[in-house]
Amino acid sequence: MSPFGRNFLPGPTDVRPEVLAALDHPMFGHRSPRMQALLASVQPALQECFGTRQPVFVATSSGTGLLEAAIRNGVRDRVLVAVGGYFGEYLARIAESCGRQVFRVHVHPGLAITAEQLDQFLEGPAVDAVAIVHSESSTGALADIPALAEVVRARKDVLLLVDGVTSVGAMPIEMDRWGADYYCTGSQKAMALPPGLAFGAASERFMARAQEQDDAGYYFSVRRMVSIARENLPTWTPAVSLFLALELQMARIAASGGWSARWARHRAMLETMEAWIAAPFVAAGGPTVMALRASIITTNIVVATLLIVGIFVPFSYYLDRLFYRSAQRRAARQQSDGRRGS
Ligand SMILES: Cc1ncc(COP(=O)(O)O)c(C=O)c1O
Repeated sequence: MSPFGRNFLPGPTDVRPEVLAALDHPMFGHRSPRMQALLASVQPALQECFGTRQPVFVATSSGTGLLEAAIRNGVRDRVLVAVGGYFGEYLARIAESCGRQVFRVHVHPGLAITAEQLDQFLEGPAVDAVAIVHSESSTGALADIPALAEVVRARKDVLLLVDGVTSVGAMPIEMDRWGADYYCTGSQKAMALPPGLAFGAASERFMARAQEQDDAGYYFSVRRMVSIARENLPTWTPAVSLFLALELQMARIAASGGWSARWARHRAMLETMEAWIAAPFVAAGGPTVMALRASIITTNIVVATLLIVGIFVPFSYYLDRLFYRSAQRRAARQQSDGRRGS
């Protein structure tokens, strides 16, 4: 098997060879007792990971599928989205593409919206939900979800929807205790699984809202996903092989001390990286180092993979956008030159 090598992204993360080997297994029925036993066995670990007593549902999609589900099922008309980087804007665009009215609150890249700021903005135009990226992968900024949830909970009938794509599994999440209404992630990040599964959980408040939504969609109906998760069954025909990898990975995590040991290991790796950066580089004071320093100071995130990719994540997304835009401009120029020539 070829090695993982370097991958300057927050995911797909490295998948252990034994977890990859679990994929190499004959198919079995997705409504079979085997699948039901598998889902029953992973449910407690997933609930612990999300910090919830609600069922954690598993969809065959990337994280974005369950972000769209959050909007379609949890936002009636108007949503406030905090934008401090690429994924805040991503969330805002998902909401707009679902036909919702979006109020963007821009915060400086590298920072996250504070509870005081959110409180002030919620005095403005009425919204029925607030959507926030917990760990903004493009800058490393970590939002203080417990404090933000307190502000949201003080309003009647406003839900808090959280993109936990690079926080769930990487650090302790206490969804129920904090009072967040929705969290989701993808398998290819801190779960250290191949891409293709997404995990989500929704509060009772969220479920009551979803009940009233008439354009919640079909494939990503949270009502359907939750009700079938209660029976330990998957919605639709899932990526059966990935469920085998999930089963093995949850067993591995349990055998190596459970989630708390994993979160502690991530934190230790983060601290090692911070110390490594602070020691030889910060003293040099170059612009790149300053950018690094800002992102490190504002983050608490403990994603294991950031040890390797931490330096490049903030830049890679912006470079990617830059190259994408210049490629688009070049294509448009070529097209208009072509039209002039013909
Ligand atoms: C914070 C955040 N949100 C959303 C996404 C999109 O997730 P996916 O590619 O699983 O759809 C990513 C991907 O890196 C992310 O880091």
